[in-house]
Amino acid sequence: MSIIKELEYEVAQKMEEAGYKVENFVFSPSSRPDLGDYQINDAMSLAKIYQENPHIIAEKIVKKLKTDNRFTNINIAGPGFINITLSDEFLIDSMNKSLKDINNNIDRVSGKKIMMDYGGANIAKTLHVGHLRSANIGEAVKRLARLLGHEVISDVHFGDIGRQSGMVISEIKERYPTLPYFDECYSGNYQEVDFNITPEELGEIYPLASTKAKTDESKLEEVVEITKELENGHKGYNALWNKIKEVSIKDITAVYKRINTEFDLLEGESDCYPYIKETMSIMEKSGLLEESEGAKIINVKTETDDSPMPPLVVIKSNDGTLYATRDLATIHSRMKRFSPDEIWYFADNRQSLYFEQVFRASYLTGLVQKETKLEFFGFGTMTGQDGRPFKTRDGGVMTLKDLIKSIKEETLKRINIDMVEEEKREETAEMIAIAALKYADFLPFRTKDYVFDPIKFTDLEGKTGPYLLYSTVRMKSLLEKVEKEGIKEISFHKLKGTNDRLLALTILKMPMVLKKSLEAKSLNEIAEYLYKLTSIYNSFYAENKVLTEEDEKLKSTWTALTKLTFNINSLLLKTLGIKVPEKM
Ligand code: ARG
Repeated sequence: MSIIKELEYEVAQKMEEAGYKVENFVFSPSSRPDLGDYQINDAMSLAKIYQENPHIIAEKIVKKLKTDNRFTNINIAGPGFINITLSDEFLIDSMNKSLKDINNNIDRVSGKKIMMDYGGANIAKTLHVGHLRSANIGEAVKRLARLLGHEVISDVHFGDIGRQSGMVISEIKERYPTLPYFDECYSGNYQEVDFNITPEELGEIYPLASTKAKTDESKLEEVVEITKELENGHKGYNALWNKIKEVSIKDITAVYKRINTEFDLLEGESDCYPYIKETMSIMEKSGLLEESEGAKIINVKTETDDSPMPPLVVIKSNDGTLYATRDLATIHSRMKRFSPDEIWYFADNRQSLYFEQVFRASYLTGLVQKETKLEFFGFGTMTGQDGRPFKTRDGGVMTLKDLIKSIKEETLKRINIDMVEEEKREETAEMIAIAALKYADFLPFRTKDYVFDPIKFTDLEGKTGPYLLYSTVRMKSLLEKVEKEGIKEISFHKLKGTNDRLLALTILKMPMVLKKSLEAKSLNEIAEYLYKLTSIYNSFYAENKVLTEEDEKLKSTWTALTKLTFNINSLLLKTLGIKVPEKM
């Protein structure tokens, strides 16, 4: 349990000793720091429950709190607001405990087994801007969930089947008609076919094939036919598609790696095929599937719905699977293989209705029991300056690679990379650029849209990734200098000045920030917190000369403060999936 949680628990006990019980008591940091560090505002609601004057209740609580020397200057404001200041001794002790073991400043949750579905890249399509947020947010939530004690299995859930596969195969057939994949009489080993395709060519093929299928009716028919045959096990198509998958997955995972995103499972929609039959039979048994124009649908509307909730088409008339069929079968496969307590999905806000339909269909048909929680966490869009989804200058979809490139160029304009050893320059520039991109992505609440602004994102001042990295690297370099001088010991002895105290108080807030972020599956609280902590540290740094300080106890304290802030920044940046360079 964190130090502050323990204190909260003890305060609640003291209130009970005074005769008042508050359900789910929260010991809140003060909204009026001029009056105290923490506040208790419960006297007013207690007054109603206990039919007493709030001021008298507050007085009785204060009397109990005054017996605890961790609190100083306890006062009552207005009708019964209690303000409390934490003693310096308590803060010093808490900081030493956190420095010794950061776990003293983290609250674990009761761990569950969670499957996370994020990333969602589509095979044969280049990773584009739309996939950035799913990777960033999903990866950070995974790391946060693990930090707080959950067991997490992450799966990228590639879009590896469906009409896009038919389109790509049809275009390749047009370009290279003599390939054995298209020869129905071929009896050789497809593994030995001498055919290579680059991710670049694939990137070019998909949009082209998509336009063709949209404008040419016969082309579309061919695409539908190929897709169906592929699903039904056509050998040549499957061999070709597997080859494409291999090339594409290699390319996609390399980009994911650049944005520090990794998955435990690299499964795709098509991996659910062995589970489709069983899934359909479970769903049929519920008696809830209805025939509609040859397709099978399920009505998922309830009486309390006040917004449209159309039925979910579970499977198509020609027995071909749909995105939904594959999501349902994937759920069944996940339940069977991993029996998770919860499955969390991260995708664009626009898929929210779809997931609600799929979840309802899963519960209604008994595919998933109600004890298992299926949850969707949508996110907003990254837009251009015009507020529309971000595009390239010529109106095309921006690939993630190009986006990273443009951020990197902007980064190099601002950072004096010559400071870094030559062989580390490229790596450092990449780290800073990725930090700029990721941090900007975390700042707005998950569901909000935000504007892509490379100049703002890469600024060395203000709420940006580069500012955080620069400050964190500076903390580290200060620590190295002090250590080189041969400091005897590093711990907190005394607090001097407002910034020391403010830093300690801010550090104590960390458990709450982590908890809130995980609950909301949004990283904005952590992003804001990192900025706040770093800014206070920088004010402290500007005010005090740690290296030349003659008072040994003070020098030790300031070094400890630097070390603890550095440890927290490192931990939180790592949780966000942001790497800190050695130097910058
Ligand atoms: N591939 C999908 C897309 O690009 C996202 C997948 C989301 N996850 C899921 N289980 N459906 O839109």
